[in-house]
Amino acid sequence: MRARAVSLRKAQPSRTLVAVPMPADAESPPASTRRADWVHRLPKAEVHLHLEGCVPLNAVALDDPARAGVTFDPDTGVPQFRDLAEFLAFLDHSCALVTDGTQVEHIAYEIARRAATSGVGHADVIFNPTHWPEWQADLDGFVERLDRGFEAGEADHGVTVALCLSLSRTQRAADSAALVDWLLAARPDRVVALSVDGNEAAAGRTGPRFAPLFARARSAGLHTCAHAGESSGPEGVRDAIEILHVERVDHGIRAVEDPALVAKLAAEAVPLDVCPTSNVRLGVVASLAAHPVEQLRTAGVRVSLNTDDPLLFGTSVASEYAQCAQTFGWDRSVLGAIARVSIESSFATQDRRRELLSDLDDYLGLAR
Ligand code: ADE
Ligand code: ZN
Repeated sequence: MRARAVSLRKAQPSRTLVAVPMPADAESPPASTRRADWVHRLPKAEVHLHLEGCVPLNAVALDDPARAGVTFDPDTGVPQFRDLAEFLAFLDHSCALVTDGTQVEHIAYEIARRAATSGVGHADVIFNPTHWPEWQADLDGFVERLDRGFEAGEADHGVTVALCLSLSRTQRAADSAALVDWLLAARPDRVVALSVDGNEAAAGRTGPRFAPLFARARSAGLHTCAHAGESSGPEGVRDAIEILHVERVDHGIRAVEDPALVAKLAAEAVPLDVCPTSNVRLGVVASLAAHPVEQLRTAGVRVSLNTDDPLLFGTSVASEYAQCAQTFGWDRSVLGAIARVSIESSFATQDRRRELLSDLDDYLGLAR
């Protein structure tokens, strides 16, 4: 399958998905800045990217913002969210519009295509079935469609993609267990990890409830990661590493409120996959300048930079690197170190990680 053969046209025009253009500087480097160009070509991985945040904004939402429950910036078309709860409700709305397999293939293909424009050689993509009503009863079919899109994307753009099945912090325990049952029975090659996302503030402390599911996934040879320290404080990050025993923490930035935890993350080399623009857009931090990524990094914590939900926040991986470089005064050695963490902490195969690290070393002019 090639994506160029895939049509997004649906029988019902009101449910046609339309791609919304990215902000001008998000996908293509401004020719005038050499640093932006260098950042785009810097070999890297993206390890925190939600499938749900890669659904093109749909005609219904654009025509009828009230129905979508959000307003759109009149200049950029980027939706504005008050907080995480409103954002997650929007995902339910937009993902419900994805009802046929060609749309799913297209979304997957586009992830690989966009990744290549940011110098991303591998992406770990999180998908959370609670947002996809049309596919909940056919997860095998959903993953098969995603697989086809990613395969075509890899063939055309050289980007490898792994999937992380995500549970939801607020879903019923029996439903989470059923998803893990499915994963361990079906074991699609493409799905390499178990994750948990959603709203920790709404769910309360859930680490102990998810622990047995994460233990099962680990015993079955799956990787693990968890959202924490975004809608929870440092205690959520502690639970993720001490109770869920995850390899990587998604966000994790509120660890900064607990110096002992920061020291532990640094000492144990637990990577945080940080998403600066997302944190600003969802009101977790007041501005990029106030983002704790720099404090965490200089305290020795391994951080990578990611988009979280690029189409909804109007960002790209290269743009995250470029904006942080500008805001925090990072030079090429800092950006190279962050790219290295992104590759080393990814769930790509060991061979692929070696390949990307070797590309990175070549790019930085280092001999391996
Ligand atoms: N699902 C998609 N983006 C998310 C985020 N930033 N936090 C929690 N769940 C999410
Ligand atoms: Zn996320």
